[in-house]
Amino acid sequence: MRQKMVAGNWKMNGTSNSARDLVSGIKAGLNGQSPEVVVCPPFVYLPIVAAEIANSAITLSAQNMCDQDVGAYTGEISGPMLKDIGCEYVILAHSERRAMYGETDEVAASKYAAALKNNLKPIFCIGETLEEREQNITEDVIARQIDAIINTSGVASLANAVLAYEPVWAIGTGKTATPDQAQGVHAFIRNRIAGHDAGIAESLRILYGGSMNPANAADLIAQPDIDGGLIGGASLKAEDFLAIINAAG
Ligand code: 13P
Repeated sequence: MRQKMVAGNWKMNGTSNSARDLVSGIKAGLNGQSPEVVVCPPFVYLPIVAAEIANSAITLSAQNMCDQDVGAYTGEISGPMLKDIGCEYVILAHSERRAMYGETDEVAASKYAAALKNNLKPIFCIGETLEEREQNITEDVIARQIDAIINTSGVASLANAVLAYEPVWAIGTGKTATPDQAQGVHAFIRNRIAGHDAGIAESLRILYGGSMNPANAADLIAQPDIDGGLIGGASLKAEDFLAIINAAG
């Protein structure tokens, strides 16, 4: 059985005080629910949040990292630094990184390999744009994005990773994929991986992301191949995030 996961991607939001308040509100509302709960604050608030979640069931994730470990890379944050500060996970290849910061499949694959080398578990994002969906090439895009990491790190690497299917047209738009639409893509992802290794495919967690909220979370997460959510906007209010955790548990 795959343990469900609910991860909150805070993106570039908040202050030190609001980060502390948000995570302490989440902590206070947890009462042994079954999903793994992950919070992904901005880099500068990681230490504040790490201190708040010590001795709790919440785990810490960054939102991005450099593919190099150390050196003259001004403005970058490395895997060893994230590990040092207490991160267990790192979101990689988010569509906002791909679209706004030019992260290609090649860059994404390089970051993925660097995370695993540093014992950080990637939450690796894949997903098609609206244009790609309308052209009926969703599966081609997803296949290409998955192959980028399988070809460089091998299918066995997915034993230490999580995938997040985030249709770009559903992110921050209030438009959610229907449970059927999302399930269709999740099943495609799992089948594609099963073509390489059935055991890895069966144990791999595949999260859905894109306007997930307390009202739609239960129906999405009830789908057989949807193992939880990567939540943006609704993760910024403890009450909403907790409602999604309850819907998954
Ligand atoms: P929203 O939940 O705000 O649509 O964002 C989803 C997302 O991008 C999570 O990484």
